[in-house]
Amino acid sequence: MNVRANRPLLIEGGRVIDPSQGMDRITNLLVEDGRIVAYDAISTGDQEVLDASDKIVAPGLIDMHVHLREPGREEDETIRTGTAAAVAGGFTSIACIPNTEPPIDTQATVEFIRHQAVLADQCNVFVVACVSKNREGKELAELGQLVQAGAVAFSDDGAPVYDAELMRRALEYCRMFDKPILNHAEVRELTQGGVMHEGLVSLVLGLPGMPSVAEDVMASRDIALADATGGRIHMMHVSSVGSVDLIRRAKGRGVRVTTEVCPHHFTLTDDSLRSFDSNFKMSPPLRSQKHVNACIAGLADGTIDVICTDHAPHALEKKMRELDQAPFGIVGLETALGLVVTRLIEPGHLDWPAALAKMTINPARILGINKGTLAIGADADITVIDPTVRWTVDPTKFRSKSRNTPFAGWKLQGRADSVIVGGRIKYQAPAEAAEQGRRPARAR
Ligand code: DOR
Repeated sequence: MNVRANRPLLIEGGRVIDPSQGMDRITNLLVEDGRIVAYDAISTGDQEVLDASDKIVAPGLIDMHVHLREPGREEDETIRTGTAAAVAGGFTSIACIPNTEPPIDTQATVEFIRHQAVLADQCNVFVVACVSKNREGKELAELGQLVQAGAVAFSDDGAPVYDAELMRRALEYCRMFDKPILNHAEVRELTQGGVMHEGLVSLVLGLPGMPSVAEDVMASRDIALADATGGRIHMMHVSSVGSVDLIRRAKGRGVRVTTEVCPHHFTLTDDSLRSFDSNFKMSPPLRSQKHVNACIAGLADGTIDVICTDHAPHALEKKMRELDQAPFGIVGLETALGLVVTRLIEPGHLDWPAALAKMTINPARILGINKGTLAIGADADITVIDPTVRWTVDPTKFRSKSRNTPFAGWKLQGRADSVIVGGRIKYQAPAEAAEQGRRPARAR
């Protein structure tokens, strides 16, 4: 359903949770001309009405770590399929990572992505551009030009920014634009040839391991460089006790470091690799329970600012290869919200406002984008969430072009019910989403 642009939209009776305003109350929200215009609005009869009773009305979710694969790897995902998957997962804004072919290291490529995203007309796409030319880690990309073209951050993800001097200069340079560097923390000498976390399970299975210290050493270097330069470092997909602890301590002394965690790193352990299923292979790898616990503790105490997916689509034929040949990564856009509700909110690790902050205003602030809020006058990007619906992950129903998920068949609670981007309804959950009864949402 597309709401006609000239007709106001009244979102009625929902529990509005907006961490950017410290708001958590049941109210009616009025949207007009693509913006939030009023709270406590009353139906006048000439509005489109969306019944949000028993639902949570949140700022549109933001995923700051998405691999859209276009240009170059359209067999895995395209901007059209990736953004369709995003809205189905409840995301109204995503940031795409530049390890495409060619990588996003020129103004023309940034403009291409932005243009394709407008044509796809699903959600907002913000572009993360390369730190180094061609992602080779040798020479800085034209960061100033990339900012002019609309890049919101820089990353060579898939790979770390390996050269410490290059990282130092990138951090210094980016201070001028107040843009963060998003780094994939991995010391490759320590992980070479590895397919899974190095530990008891890799020993038992006889598979080459990737030790957690590989992440910790790079995290430590990046923190030192951010401290020395005053630049902003954002540690991508943290997964280890050591890196969470380093970031916690660095934040404590005022270093400009932020971080994120992906649902697979707070839900799964390396034990899953006993299946030899490549849908459990990603980088950084699934680690042991103590690392999972550290991620959850980091989320709970605020060390970890953001929950993102690292949505990494790979076509079936690639993931079907032997474990050592299969690529790293899993899709995540269409399962993230359910995993957050089921594994973080329901067990009481995070309450709704804390979880939503990590999926709305926190990533918006890190990327410096004008999103993640339902303040009056803000863009009407809104995710209406059914917090109690129970559903089963069925990859054949994914909108993503790829199906490489470790969560097939999982029973989850909570999912996006309606997703509004710029005042227009872009997604509504199919009625069959509800498998079991619903319990009413209650204000806390
Ligand atoms: O598992 C991963 N997949 N980790 C990364 O850092 C890159 C990503 C990809 O591009 O497939």
